[in-house]
Parts: sequence; structure tokens; C-alpha cells
Amino acid sequence: MAALLPSSGLFCPFPAAAQDADGARLFQQRCATCHSLEAGQNKLGPHLSGVIGRTAGNIEGAAYSDAMRSSGITWDGQSLDTFLTAPGRMVRGTRMTVAIPNATQRAAIIQYLEGQSAD
Ligand code: HEC
Repeated sequence: MAALLPSSGLFCPFPAAAQDADGARLFQQRCATCHSLEAGQNKLGPHLSGVIGRTAGNIEGAAYSDAMRSSGITWDGQSLDTFLTAPGRMVRGTRMTVAIPNATQRAAIIQYLEGQSAD
């Protein structure tokens, strides 16, 4: 996966538009298998429409772990960053095992999600 990133961009701040595009692409590659951005469409994971500001474990019909339901997390840039770094470390027992260890990729994905409003 890392090979797909332009190496020159890895450690420099992206211009906002470029980071958006990158976030969209990363979301498709790393998240979209399990997460839709359409409200009401749950896949293996809950839909992520309007996830910023949402209480964790709160989407009707999604198959959450007890750990996520009772986590008490509110999703914002900071909590998403911590979660995506190591989901099982933040929410012990979560069913989501996919981590994004690269901070630049996490930031791009989170910025992309921040641009998706609830509908
Ligand atoms: C292999 C499937 C899978 C992939 C890939 C995946 N997730 Fe998840 N995700 C899940 C599952 C399952 C849950 C529910 C976890 C639980 O209840 O413990 C979840 C939960 C979440 C939650 C909490 C949602 C809520 O309503 O509380 C967020 C935020 C999230 N994922 C973001 C992401 C992002 C961003 C990516 C891509 C970097 C991603 N996920 C990739 C399966 C996945």
C-alpha cells in the first residue's frame, strides 16, 4: 500500500485539496469494504455518514461489539486518530481490527471524513 503513495509527499504537509483527494482514495482502499458513507447502509461495519460528532456504537442496525457500545467515545479528529492508530488499544475487544499506522494517511482519511456531512 505504501508504494502507492508519492514518496515526496509523505512527510510534507499536503495542500488541502490534494489531501482531500488522497483521503478519498485511502478511504476507498482501506475502509469502504466495511464502511459506507450513506446513512442507513451498514456493511460489516456501521455507516460513517456524519461520523464526526457522533457517539460511538450508536447506529441502529449495526453489529457492534459490547466494547464499542459502552465505550462512551465521541468521534472527533482526535479520538478517530487514536482509534485508527490501534483500534484494539483504544476500545479493548472491538470487532474492528484494521489499523492505519501511518499518521499522514490517518490525517488524510480523517480530513476526508470531516468533509462528509450527515444526511
Ligand atoms: C474489515 C472491516 C473493516 C474495515 C476495513 C474498517 N472497519 Fe471500521 N469498523 C468495522 C467494524 C466491524 C466496526 C464495529 C466495531 C465494534 O463494534 O467493535 C467498525 C467501527 C468503526 C468506527 C466506529 C463507528 C461507530 O459508529 O461508533 C469507526 C469510526 C470506524 N470503524 C472507522 C473506520 C475507518 C476510518 C476505516 C478505514 C481506515 C475502517 N473503519 C476500516 C470494520 C471495519
